[in-house]
Amino acid sequence: MAYAIAAGEPGGTEFLKRIGITPPTPGPGEVLVRQTAVGVNFIDVYIRTGAYPWPVDKDLILGCEGAGVVEAVGPEVEGFSMGDRVAYTVPNGAYATHRTVPAKMLVHLPDGVSDEEAAGAMLKGLTAYYLLHDSYRVKPDETVLFHAAAGGVGLLAGQWMAAMGARAIGTAGGAAKGRLALANGYAEVIDYRSEDFVARVKDLTGGTGVAAVYDSVGKDTVAGSLDCLTTFGTLVSFGQSSGAPDDFRIAHLARGSLRLQRPTLFHYAASRDWLETASAALFGAIADGILKINIGARRPLAEAAAAHDDLEDRKTTGSTVLIP
Ligand SMILES: NC(=O)c1ccc[n+]([C@@H]2O[C@H](COP(=O)([O-])OP(=O)(O)OC[C@H]3O[C@@H](n4cnc5c(N)ncnc54)[C@H](OP(=O)(O)O)[C@@H]3O)[C@@H](O)[C@H]2O)c1
Repeated sequence: MAYAIAAGEPGGTEFLKRIGITPPTPGPGEVLVRQTAVGVNFIDVYIRTGAYPWPVDKDLILGCEGAGVVEAVGPEVEGFSMGDRVAYTVPNGAYATHRTVPAKMLVHLPDGVSDEEAAGAMLKGLTAYYLLHDSYRVKPDETVLFHAAAGGVGLLAGQWMAAMGARAIGTAGGAAKGRLALANGYAEVIDYRSEDFVARVKDLTGGTGVAAVYDSVGKDTVAGSLDCLTTFGTLVSFGQSSGAPDDFRIAHLARGSLRLQRPTLFHYAASRDWLETASAALFGAIADGILKINIGARRPLAEAAAAHDDLEDRKTTGSTVLIP
């Protein structure tokens, strides 16, 4: 039976419920996908809790990435046919057995990439791509800092930075996560739950600091991240898993003529050219073995609430995938 996981209002995981659905008929420009794997992302938590605006006045089906097989094609769609293997990342609607996706947001899956790999890497891998190529392009031999290195985005970024020749310092909570990050491209890992990461970064860079910090932790780390930067360094603030940084002031950038970007994947992915280029780079890197997709947890779609609990409780590593 077709079903989805939805919430009627923002709140805890107790608000998530299973609802029956009828697979929708695709409208103009849309494709119906029978989903085989769905990714879980921290943005799903922000949306579920109301940290990001609640976009509908009815049950909201959460989830922003998935993979599967085309079951029907709407009018005015070119390039997709029934039976094609596809993947996507779009805001909401993914925690479902079936869903429609605008064809302009859909990409074909090559043979070298499994459905689970795609569901674990579309949103996180395209994020890693834009962070390292568009937000601040890492350079060979340059040292950068990446927080939450053992997370979904973090493990992909570590491998990609190593392939690009950069020296990446990661932060991670606990020894096990640190070992995993070291096995995924990071040259050094700091346990920021027990160590002063700013002092350690200064030690590791001979007092100079790093050229860029990629910070998705937010409240707990942003002030320290700015202190880790060298003159003309760049802070890329792309998330807030510990909460929104509430005491940032523009004057904080003056200490080193620092740059700040606050990017969002969906702005990049709105460009079809960018989506095709970045997806081809991502799938090519997976097929070539440059990127290994670490699926840390695999659960039935019906267990989405438990997957959220684990993500919020910092119990996950790599990607969590839900199987409809
Ligand atoms: N702007 C964008 O376009 C974009 C796109 C994708 C993702 N993101 C952001 O990137 C981050 C990573 O996303 P993800 O889905 O791959 O998640 P994730 O990194 O797998 O999970 C979040 C990690 O953040 C760390 N963390 C630190 N303080 C935390 C706290 N108070 N509560 C919970 N976690 C905390 C934990 O790692 P430790 O235990 O090692 O500290 C946790 O495992 C998120 O902030 C997400 O919103 C942004």
